[in-house]
Parts: sequence; C-alpha cells; structure tokens
Amino acid sequence: MDPLLDYTDKVVLITGAAQGFGKLLAEEFAKRGAKLVLSDYQEEAVIDVAKCIAITGAQAIGMKCDVAKSEECKAMVNNAIDIFGSVDIAINNAGIVHDFMPLHQIDESLMDKQFSVNVKGVQYGMRYQIEQMLKQGSGSILNVSSMAGLCGAAYVAAYGMAKHAVIGLTKAGAVEYAAKNIRINAICPFFSLTNMVTDNANEEMQYKMGQGAPMKRLSDPQEVVAAMMLMLSPANSYMTGQCIAIDGGVSAR
Ligand SMILES: NC(=O)c1ccc[n+]([C@@H]2O[C@H](COP(=O)([O-])OP(=O)(O)OC[C@H]3O[C@@H](n4cnc5c(N)ncnc54)[C@H](O)[C@@H]3O)[C@@H](O)[C@H]2O)c1
Repeated sequence: MDPLLDYTDKVVLITGAAQGFGKLLAEEFAKRGAKLVLSDYQEEAVIDVAKCIAITGAQAIGMKCDVAKSEECKAMVNNAIDIFGSVDIAINNAGIVHDFMPLHQIDESLMDKQFSVNVKGVQYGMRYQIEQMLKQGSGSILNVSSMAGLCGAAYVAAYGMAKHAVIGLTKAGAVEYAAKNIRINAICPFFSLTNMVTDNANEEMQYKMGQGAPMKRLSDPQEVVAAMMLMLSPANSYMTGQCIAIDGGVSAR
C-alpha cells in the first residue's frame, strides 16, 4: 500500500458515522487497514454501518454516542481503548445545522442546541481523545468545521458561530499539544451533497448554492473525504493547527 495512505492497524474513532462524511470516511479507512470505532446518536444506523464494514473483513464496532453528553464521549474513547488498545486518529465529525433564518430571529434554545452539539460535542471528544493520546505519546485529531466557520454565512449565524468556535478549539489544541506529538487540524467544507444539504435544499437551491463557488458546483462528499484522508495521513506529520477550506475556490476570491 502507498505509505501516504497506509492506515494499517491504526485505531480510528469517528463521531457522526451513521451517514454522510462520517460513514464514507469509515469506509475509506477500512479499505486501508484501520480498526474502527464508529459512533453516532443514531445507534441502530451506526451499528449497521459497522456491520457492513466488518463484512468486508475490516475490524469495526458501532456504538451510541451523543456528543453533547460528556459521559458518552468518555465511554466512546474507553471503548476504543478496551477493544483496540489505543486511539491513534479521531475525527470529531458529528454536527447539526439549523433552518435558514435571519440572525435577529435566532433564539436561546437554538443557540444552546448548536453550541451543545457543534462546540461542546467537539471539546468533549477532544478532551478524552487527548487524554489517551498523551499516554500513547502520539495522535492525530481532525475536527469538522465548515466554510461557515471561516466566513460570514448569512442566515445560518448560530451554525456559523459554532463552527468558528471549532476553529478556535482546533488552533488552541494544536498549539498546546504540538510538542506532545499530537496533531490537531480542522476541515472546512463548502456545501457538499450529504443529507445535511439534500434534506434542507431542493435541487434548484442546490444549483444556486453551487453557482456561488468558482467551480460552479457543490462537492461530492467523496471529494471532502479524500481531503480528510490526506490531512490525516501518517505521512502528513508536520501539519498542525490548520483549518483547510475544501470549497471549490470560494475562499480564494
Ligand atoms: N454537508 C455539508 O455541506 C457540510 C459543509 C460543512 C460542514 N459540514 C459538517 O460536516 C459534518 C458531517 O455532516 P454531514 O454533511 O455528513 O451531514 P449528515 O447530517 O449526513 O451527518 C451528520 C451525522 O452527525 C450525527 N449527529 C448529529 N448530532 C449528533 C450528536 N449529538 N451526537 C452524535 N451524532 C450526531 C447525525 O446522526 C449524522 O449521522 C458536520 O459537522 C457538518 O456540520 C457539512
């Protein structure tokens, strides 16, 4: 296997792995020799994803973890340690969007929901992942932010604030743990055709959203997953604290 994408025996933990980026990423890691701990608050669906992967011969377990609950994040990391002995790579991918609405209509409960899943959910995951990575003396974490975490995203301000916070967490963590051999980066996709977009925007809206990118289209989720694999490559060992846009050229303007 090309050493750039050789994940043989790496223990990989992915949150929000029942569908979308998380599920596709799990399938890519499985093809490249990783041992997987997959979690999601959709318990049945994530267990099914793990079972389908296990049929291909890879080692994968699926479990419930609502990332907004610190104890469940702890249990997820402990499960990886009990079953596979380490956490080499962790992807804090679980996330939720909200209905398009003007900023002045965003209320307290929407803010709380966004921050409990998209911000606290990432910090809870990092907390226990880093604790284990410090014991191991190595590790790599990828947080899933968004272009809404880099730019002003109109009509999704609460989501945008939460995704900006993920970038703050990523950079702080990268600086704190760089000397401990733990890399921490974030990926910032523009709209991609997972359920998050297809459930909330009809084809006409998707077309218009795509026209907002210099490439004049939205991404296929596999294109985002390919970038995640490259960022997490064991050969990519000097990259930390970076928040990389995968955006068809949007941020180049
Ligand atoms: N699709 C896009 O256009 C896009 C763009 C930028 C960033 N993102 C981010 O990518 C990540 C993955 O989203 P996706 O596009 O694959 O969408 P998706 O909705 O298909 O997947 C999100 C997954 O997260 C899970 N999840 C939600 N809340 C959870 C919680 N509290 N605990 C555990 N799991 C939970 C869902 O069950 C689902 O499996 C999210 O963080 C999202 O914000 C997506």
